[in-house]
Amino acid sequence: MNTATRRASTVAVTSGKGGVGKSNVAVNLAIRLTQLGRRVVLLDADLGTANADVLCDLQPTGTVAHVVAGRRTLAETMMEAPGGFRLIPGASGLAQVAAMSEFERARLMQMVQEIEAETDLILIDTGAGVGPNVLSFAAGADEMLVVTTPEPTSITDAYAMIKTVHRQRGGANVRVLVNMTRDAAEGRGVFERINAVSRKFLDLELRYAGHVVTDAKVGQAVRRRRPFVLDSPTCEAAVCIGQLAHRLDRNAAEPRGAGLLERISGWIAG
Ligand SMILES: Nc1ncnc2c1ncn2[C@@H]1O[C@H](COP(=O)(O)OP(=O)(O)OP(=O)(O)O)[C@@H](O)[C@H]1O
Ligand SMILES: [Mg+2]
Repeated sequence: MNTATRRASTVAVTSGKGGVGKSNVAVNLAIRLTQLGRRVVLLDADLGTANADVLCDLQPTGTVAHVVAGRRTLAETMMEAPGGFRLIPGASGLAQVAAMSEFERARLMQMVQEIEAETDLILIDTGAGVGPNVLSFAAGADEMLVVTTPEPTSITDAYAMIKTVHRQRGGANVRVLVNMTRDAAEGRGVFERINAVSRKFLDLELRYAGHVVTDAKVGQAVRRRRPFVLDSPTCEAAVCIGQLAHRLDRNAAEPRGAGLLERISGWIAG
């Protein structure tokens, strides 16, 4: 495949409710995709509780906040992360200060577009909820990977997220990942429930990304500040992430339409 002319595929990792495992999924997925030979960038765009750098035990000298303020370039901010992917660290606590303006979002996306040529896959950890930042990143990406757990509150919020993005931008390409399940069957069951509601009320067919089981090795790895696919490569959760990576990788090989910036600007203008 000619990677020089093919632009990067973008996947927004998002959720309705917080604390469902987005950042752990994003970091570990980035590593597994790198192991499959993809050039992966993880953009930590969570403005409230950004912490991909903490999960990787990195000490950023610059963050997304510096980039949007025009004080650093993306290249200066990007860090080599464990497992070989590149991380654009996020800025914790920014949400309380100010959400990004449309101008700042557009500026960030313009910079991200500059690295599309040298990247196969851009994962964006958007943070949780239906705020303007999360929505614009989610709607601007090729795919939305909505993470939920089997808890009813998490399922309800995941559906609300999907509904809002669908209304903002029809034809949303949505995959659902069910994290912290007992087993594969529970994950599939949760997905079927969300998909049934989506089909009925939104006329939208969702795709199942898969499940990640509840695994004590995840918490252990977080405490050690090492991504669990590196800390315990054969643990159950790592195997699940491996399956997810294979599925996304197949999809990323398909040709794309417009670049990220055009889609984001289109969404902002519309
Ligand atoms: N599959 C799993 N098994 C066990 N524990 C898990 C699993 N996934 C996530 N966790 C635990 O849940 C906690 C929250 O995970 P994480 O920080 O990735 O969620 P998040 O959705 O990014 O949260 P936020 O909305 O605050 O950004 C982690 O500390 C981790 O220990
Ligand atoms: Mg997070």
